[in-house]
Amino acid sequence: MEVRVLTLFPERIQSYFQEGIPRRALEEGHLKVKTENIRDYSTNKHRKADDYPYGEGAGMVLLAQPLFDALRHDSGYIVHLSPRGNLLTQKKVQELAEKKELTLICSHYEGLDQRVIDTWVDEEISIGDYILSGGELAALVLIDAVMRCLPGVICEESLQEESHVCGLLEYHQYTRPEEFEGLEVPKILLSGHHQNIRDYRLEEQVRLTLHRRPDMIAKGLQEGIYPEKVIELIRKLSKEDIS
Ligand SMILES: C[S@@+](CC[C@H](N)C(=O)[O-])C[C@H]1O[C@@H](n2cnc3c(N)ncnc32)[C@H](O)[C@@H]1O
Repeated sequence: MEVRVLTLFPERIQSYFQEGIPRRALEEGHLKVKTENIRDYSTNKHRKADDYPYGEGAGMVLLAQPLFDALRHDSGYIVHLSPRGNLLTQKKVQELAEKKELTLICSHYEGLDQRVIDTWVDEEISIGDYILSGGELAALVLIDAVMRCLPGVICEESLQEESHVCGLLEYHQYTRPEEFEGLEVPKILLSGHHQNIRDYRLEEQVRLTLHRRPDMIAKGLQEGIYPEKVIELIRKLSKEDIS
């Protein structure tokens, strides 16, 4: 997948890819990330990229001209990171991971001239109901989540079990030692009985999701995504919670 990021702060994006999984994803060729400074497209002799908003209002707005020129020949799926956008969910992440080319516009200050959005943007995406000072962190969140879904970046087994993938939160994780400061790892995880461990973990997932994210359970039931085994657990554990 090729990701093009249009930003006033290219280094913020680039620095993220210098370590860990993001760096490996680039080195192994699963992902290409091209960052471009919006100012480089400005025809203004001072590389001006923003101006005051028309009408009342504080702050600055990114100019249409540099972005029109940057996007004119873009053949990718164009996303503007914006708190007004569709919420980024795992489902949306998986959809985006299917795209061959993705272009992300990070805006700043008060946002972006609406004519850019109306003319070029395929979708506005928000990473949550709060306001960041710029789109770079939001773009990195989106790229990181999408990158994990690309074949070869993360082992398939880890992906299947993660929170939100199957409409349930993930079970608790433990590692060595078996006992730490008097705190023990649940015995069943040491039993070596794989089916019992799977059953125990599934029950933990349903219990945790019912408790922390009942909205996810309601949505999962409505969409019919749960296998019969999960539905039975939801019935059983919902009663347990009520009593
Ligand atoms: C200070 S915000 C502008 C907020 C805008 N005035 C509004 O109320 O919708 C500056 C930029 O940061 C990015 N941004 C801020 N919060 C975001 C969020 N929750 N999701 C995605 N991008 C966000 C967007 O690119 C936004 O244009």
